[in-house]
Formats: sequence, C-alpha cells, structure tokens
Amino acid sequence: MVSPNPPPAEALENAASIATPASAGQSPRNWLEGLDNPYFQAGFGLMGVGVVLGGLRKFAGFADVFLRRRLLVQVEINNKDRAYPWFLAWMAQQSQKNQSFGRGLGLISRSHRLSVETTVEQLHNGSSSVFFNLVAGTGMHWFKYHGIWMQVVRERDTHSMQMMSGAPWETVTLTTLSRDRDIFPRLLAEARDLALKDQEGKLVIQTPWGTEWRPFGLPRRKRPLHSVVLDNGIAASIESDVKSFLQRRQWYVDRGIPYRRGYLFHGPPGSGKSSYIQALAGSLNYNLCLLNLSERGLGDDKLTYLLSTVPERSFVLIEDVDAAFNKRVQTSEDGYQSSVTFSGFLNALDGVASGEERIVFLTTNHIDRLDPALIRPGRVDFTQYIGDAMPSQARKLFERFYIAESDGPSSTNFGQDIYDIIEEGITRDKRISMAALQGLFIRNNDAEDALEACRKML
Ligand SMILES: Nc1ncnc2c1ncn2[C@@H]1O[C@H](COP(=O)(O)OP(=O)(O)O)[C@@H](O)[C@H]1O
Ligand SMILES: [Mg+2]
Repeated sequence: MVSPNPPPAEALENAASIATPASAGQSPRNWLEGLDNPYFQAGFGLMGVGVVLGGLRKFAGFADVFLRRRLLVQVEINNKDRAYPWFLAWMAQQSQKNQSFGRGLGLISRSHRLSVETTVEQLHNGSSSVFFNLVAGTGMHWFKYHGIWMQVVRERDTHSMQMMSGAPWETVTLTTLSRDRDIFPRLLAEARDLALKDQEGKLVIQTPWGTEWRPFGLPRRKRPLHSVVLDNGIAASIESDVKSFLQRRQWYVDRGIPYRRGYLFHGPPGSGKSSYIQALAGSLNYNLCLLNLSERGLGDDKLTYLLSTVPERSFVLIEDVDAAFNKRVQTSEDGYQSSVTFSGFLNALDGVASGEERIVFLTTNHIDRLDPALIRPGRVDFTQYIGDAMPSQARKLFERFYIAESDGPSSTNFGQDIYDIIEEGITRDKRISMAALQGLFIRNNDAEDALEACRKML
C-alpha cells in the first residue's frame, strides 16, 4: 500500500505564501536569492515528494485495475439464479470428496465460516434420511479445482430483501486467473449435472413462493401410470390427447393460436383425479406446478404472473376450482385484494398469446357449480368425468393387491367376486370410491376378509 502523503496543492500554497513576501516588487536578482531561502527549499522539496507519491499512488491504482482486468476473471452468481443452490451443493460435495481422499484440499476444510444445509433424501424403500451438508458460509474461501486456485466470496445483503419472497440477496463471486477462464462453464455444468442427477427419474413438485415457482419438498418417486386404475378407455384417451397436443406445437404456431391446453377432471373425491395427473406427469417426464387459488395473498395480478412464468416441462394443477370462488372477495383498506376473483382467474387462464407451452389441469368435485365461462374451449379443452369404482376397476385394483404376478389372475376367482360385489352394489345405486377400496385392501391382508368388508360397505 502507498502511505498517505501531503496533498501537493497544499505544499505549493505553503511554498508560495513563504516565497511571495520575499519576491514581491523585487528585482530578478533578489528573487533568485530567494531560492536560497531554506523555507522555500523545504516547500519545494515537499511538493516534489507529494508529486512523486501521488504519481505512485495513481500508478498503483492503474496497476491494480489493469491486473484485475487482464489477469483475473470473475463470475458472479446471485441467489435468484438457479445455479446458486447448485453451486453451493457442488462446493460442499467437492470438499467432502477431497477430505475422503485425505488431500485436505477441500475449501470447506480450510474455511472457518461454514453454514449448515439440511437435506432429506428419499431412499429406495421410500423412507427418508436426513443429511447435513456443510456449505461455505459468508466470507472468503479458497479452493483448487483441476489444479487451479479459485477464490470464492459469498456475500449476503441483509438490508435489501428480494421482492415477495422476503429472502435476503446473496451472491457468490468466483475469481481466478484469466488464462483459466474456460474452467467456469465446466465447473457450472458439473454443478448442474450433480443437481439434476438427484431429480432423475423423479417428479419435482413446485409451488409459488412469492411470485416465483420453487420446488416444494423433495423430488418424489414417480407413481407408475398403470397403478392408477381408471374406467375402461379413460386413461388411454387422456394420455393420447396430451401426447398429441405435445406433438402439435408447430401446428399451433402456424395458426397463431396460443399453444396451450386445459383439462378438467370432475367427479367424486377419491376417484384418482389427482393421482392420475401426477402419474401422467411422471410418465411424460414432466413436473407439476401446484396452484392453490385459495392461498392467502394470492391476488389476480400474482396469479396472472405465475401462470405466465410456469417452468418448462411442467403441468399446472389447480385443484377444487369450484371452491375457490364461493368465498367473499376480501379487499383490505389500501385496496389490495388478497384473493383471486373469478374474472381474474379467467383472464389469467387466457393470458397473453405466446408460443410458450402451457398445460393446465383443473379438478373439481362439483362441475355443476362451475361457471360455463370457465369451461369454454381455450380455457378447458378436454373434460372428463372420473367416477367411483366400476366393477372392472375394482377387480384390477384387487388383483394388484392380492395376486402375485407369478400367480396370474386366473389362479383365483376372488377377482370375479369383487367384480360381482361392486356390480351388484351399482344396481342398488350403492357405490364405493377407489380410495375407499384401496383403504380396504390396505387394512385387510387376507383377500377373503377384504371381500367380506367390501360387502358390508355396500
Ligand atoms: N382410480 C384409482 N386407482 C388407484 N388408486 C386410486 C384411484 N383413485 C383413488 N385412488 C387412491 O386413493 C387416494 C386418493 O386419490 P386421489 O387421486 O387424491 O383422488 P381425487 O383426486 O379424485 O380425489 C390415492 O391414494 C390413490 O392412490
Ligand atoms: Mg384430488
């Protein structure tokens, strides 16, 4: 560092003020004599030192900027970016790896400021385990990646909160020598792959977090599509409609029609509406965005925004659409409306025409309570009734519970028994939901007990 020096201007002034009385109105000779004046010389010397030091300081400043520009590269990632959690997780993993190799190169092992990130992971048998990851806390850290040193600075700005989500702003800045700049894409790709590997073969459910969509809970294991047993032909017709829509993007674009499709499933509770949508999303490698229209603080504007910013490859699922508009709309004193209005919902569904794909699933137990305006094409293009258990559905579910694959369905007649029980019930207008049947089958280990319990229920 350059030490502070007397400002040159001041030094000049001193010199001048001392020199002037001697020089004013005097002959040149006298003036020259003034140069011998020790005060004058001291002032001149000081000025010289000041100029030199000032120059040095400027030079140091230039050199610093030059070095930074020429020799260092920096990458900044802020916590609004998806790469942010990926990078922190990658860094944590990197340090674990290094420690286990005993090289002790892990940045974490050298850092003194750590923060804990707790994760819950679903194991293959469905149970969960809790893991603690030590990630780099705020401050400066160093680490070596492929033999290249990097500096990581994690900063948090607690003064400014992000709009809506209320989370503080955070950034990590990576700095390294500029000849290694190609290392950043490689590093970030590695972090991304690590994060996505966790989601592979799983279903990610997202919910609104302020105005953003954020993963809700852990990626879940997918439910096999065939495990949701719908009445004959229904599952196939839904699946083929969704698939054919997904293949017709260009058709929509060519005709200038917004590329979206709305599905409405209605029918009694426990018939598999939600389960089927979830399983279908999983089977098509889509994620689910859950939207609760009754959520506090969700107004028309926010709803419109959320529906226009649905993450890629995601179905939007809005459950119980009938229930959302039966309440009174609450408007607070400042005019802020804290719930969604019906017209606001329609507008949000219509949205601005764009080439963005959007697939919305609506469910309701009471289709008769829905305003016809909602069910017009463009908002809802495909309506499907999904009802209580039909005989063939009951048989399929029963076989799934009680007959091992190796036995083959013909090894017992119990399947036919449940078929008959349900069929007979329907003639008396007595029905049972698939959810209730599933409950019966879970409670009864023995097939005959289950049949008996079912008879009693109808
Ligand atoms: N058709 C079905 N096939 C298999 N399981 C079903 C079916 N319908 C309901 N279930 C089971 O019942 C429970 C509730 O189903 P859900 O999908 O939430 O019904 P809904 O959304 O129609 O009210 C789930 O655990 C699901 O496994
Ligand atoms: Mg449901």
